[in-house]
Amino acid sequence: MIGIRELGPGDAEALLRIYSAKSTKYLGRAPMDAAEARSYVRDAAASAVQSPRTLYLLGLDVDGDLLGIVKLHRDRPVAAISYILRADAWGRGYATEGVRKIFALAFGRLGLPEVRAKHHQDNPASGRVLRKAGFVPTGEHAGFMTYAIRIPGGRADPRPAPLRSPCVTMLSSP
Ligand SMILES: CC(C)(COP(=O)(O)OP(=O)(O)OC[C@H]1O[C@@H](n2cnc3c(N)ncnc32)[C@H](O)[C@@H]1OP(=O)(O)O)[C@@H](O)C(=O)NCCC(=O)NCCS
Repeated sequence: MIGIRELGPGDAEALLRIYSAKSTKYLGRAPMDAAEARSYVRDAAASAVQSPRTLYLLGLDVDGDLLGIVKLHRDRPVAAISYILRADAWGRGYATEGVRKIFALAFGRLGLPEVRAKHHQDNPASGRVLRKAGFVPTGEHAGFMTYAIRIPGGRADPRPAPLRSPCVTMLSSP
């Protein structure tokens, strides 16, 4: 079963495997170390109790294994998503499924009208993920390809209902 869920303190080890040198190559950042992994899960917990919540930093969980991270950023005029998958899990459709699941949050529960995304121009696999999920290319900016998806009639609710408690799978499909 694939789902997205809140992160917990027990996820720090899995984050180290997700944010490897291979996976961070086009992200403009270094691989994660143990100290960063611990602070990452603390930041995720803090963002989960923000009100209004501006960051959804969620785990992509496949049969109980944390294989990736999907994020929804609401700290900007138009919301944006980003994602990263553990390298040994690439090529199985998980990133695309993770993007679709975050749509359910963005367009369903939060009622956002638009979400944007971008990827490094040398990272075409990420562009394929975005297109498969329904994003439309909007151009290029500073070496990144930009994308958007709009839902006619979306509502921007600044005070969405809280998620269930951390570590509970909140959106899943068989
Ligand atoms: C990009 C990334 C998220 C893709 O994850 P994934 O789970 O392998 O993605 P999916 O399996 O859902 O889809 C990958 C698609 O890209 C395609 N693809 C893979 N390599 C490709 C390449 N070099 N050029 C074009 N398409 C490519 C695959 O064939 C697949 O498309 P298909 O289903 O039509 O065959 C993953 O490689 C990753 O985490 N990379 C490091 C972090 C990153 O780049 N994040 C995105 C930042 S914007």
